Amino acid sequence: MKKIMAVIGTRPEAIKMCPVIIELKKRKNVDLYVCVTGQHREMLRSVLDIFGVKADCDFDIMKDGQSLSDITKAVMDGISETLKREMPDIVLVHGDTTTAFAASLACFYKGVPVGHVEAGLRTYDVRSPYPEEFNRRAIDITARWLFAPTRLSAENLLREGLKEDNIYITGNTAIDALEYTVDKDYSSPITDAASGKRIILLTAHRRESHGEALRGIFRAVRRIADESDDVMIVYPVHPNPAVRTAAEEILSGHERIMLTEPLDVIAFHNLMAKSFFIMTDSGGIQEEAPSLGKPVLVLRDVTERPEGVSAGTLRIVGTNEKSVYIACKNLLCNDAEYEKMSSAENPYGNGKASKRIADILLSES
Ligand code: UD1
Ligand code: UDP
Repeated sequence: MKKIMAVIGTRPEAIKMCPVIIELKKRKNVDLYVCVTGQHREMLRSVLDIFGVKADCDFDIMKDGQSLSDITKAVMDGISETLKREMPDIVLVHGDTTTAFAASLACFYKGVPVGHVEAGLRTYDVRSPYPEEFNRRAIDITARWLFAPTRLSAENLLREGLKEDNIYITGNTAIDALEYTVDKDYSSPITDAASGKRIILLTAHRRESHGEALRGIFRAVRRIADESDDVMIVYPVHPNPAVRTAAEEILSGHERIMLTEPLDVIAFHNLMAKSFFIMTDSGGIQEEAPSLGKPVLVLRDVTERPEGVSAGTLRIVGTNEKSVYIACKNLLCNDAEYEKMSSAENPYGNGKASKRIADILLSES
């Protein structure tokens, strides 16, 4: 019997770790322990409810406008205690959040081996995304199992001198998650309210964009709404106060802009599937969109997901007001460009990443 502890702190970790948890629960020789740090609160709990995953512990650390030091310290304290009490054989972390980084550091200090789901993503600019590029590199230095979603991410790890024997190409568990959520007959009050207009789905939350970059994006979006009476811009606003204040100031009160609370993952994935195109600085959405055949304007200067750019689904447009506006106009008006971006292939695997991860973890005695 192996005791495996899965650590989750934020919405995207939950969405991409739940398929792994569900797969591990099916295996006979696993004693699974789900540890929630509570870096996110309602956004995270909604995902766990949808996937039917129960937390065995929850540190409930979220504070409004929390600092990176607050999160790091609270997660390290909580994980250290939990390791002492539960004594897992393996700890699984996902991605590049502060939860994942601090949990892997606590494991390193205690000598507990870590499996890193979604290893090897890189921009090689440690300030962008911030602090995620630092977090994922730091996690990979100590991880025993590096679950790289693609060949490119595995090559990054090899180039950095990490041991080939520790690197496994698995596909991305985001694709596994889509199998649980997307329903072609889905409709919702949001799609009904769009009443035949082309839906542009927007999300933005990155820390390095807080301030003028975010405001530039929002001004471009408002101009698109002013000029295009056949579009409906839908923006589920991230609850971070730095994002919410700017969104409300620049985007509220427009008949073609719908500001909503964050959507649950079923509502969001199905809204992606029904949208015309997506504008986002999110990581996970860049992985999901190619699978759904939806063009994405990436509101960042760099991406750690070049596979989607090569596939043709993603275009990096930055955060400058003018470039964001021009890129939107182009997708709205240029049919050939739109066709090219929406017919790309998904480079992130066939929805079996979780099964592979479970097989690899359990293949050693
Ligand atoms: C975090 C991750 C980021 C990930 C993002 C996914 C870090 C440093 N950042 O960023 O990598 O892309 O999650 O969304 O790990 N809040 C709520 N309710 C919630 C969640 C957040 O009110 O359920 C508000 C709180 O005021 C909180 C703030 O959002 O303080 C910021 O949350 P935090 O986890 O620090 O950063 P994110 O921007 O969400
Ligand atoms: N998502 C969601 N509801 C929303 C916005 C996003 O369920 O209102 C999902 C999205 O499909 C993706 C994940 O949340 O799976 C991405 O989370 P986020 O953008 O917060 O984090 P990132 O991926 O940038 O780390």
